[in-house]
Amino acid sequence: MERSERLVMGIGIAVMAVFFALVLLLATGFGVDVPGCITEMKPFEQDTVFQTAEKRYEMHVIARMWSYQMPPVEFPVGSTVDIYLTSGDVVHGFHIDRTNVNLMAVPGTVTYARVRFRTPGEYPIVCHEYCGIGHQQMVGVIRVVQ
Ligand code: CUA
Repeated sequence: MERSERLVMGIGIAVMAVFFALVLLLATGFGVDVPGCITEMKPFEQDTVFQTAEKRYEMHVIARMWSYQMPPVEFPVGSTVDIYLTSGDVVHGFHIDRTNVNLMAVPGTVTYARVRFRTPGEYPIVCHEYCGIGHQQMVGVIRVVQ
């Protein structure tokens, strides 16, 4: 092995050691950690859908591998729904077909969207972020009725 190769390898190992020491220092000395799961906090103690006014609803959804924790939902046509979304494990997606709702479900974070359902029918929900082996099964539905 040439001297320049040993030098490059030595620098590489030294840089890795510095980064590892920094990660350890941040994790132990400063309490820096990955975000906790917000689903232990209100309003995500349990999945909920409730009415706030006439044709106004609020929906709290928790995404977990590999489903959305939400009851079967049915809204009257013309309803406006405020959606609050979080994740209980990894990053998921939340796209409601036939609407412009396209959210990310991120652990430790709440994402929000407001949607008005103008036409009756079924609005499929799909996860659009690869979240593991059951990703393709992660679907839901919202029914809008007259
Ligand atoms: Cu959840 Cu893909």
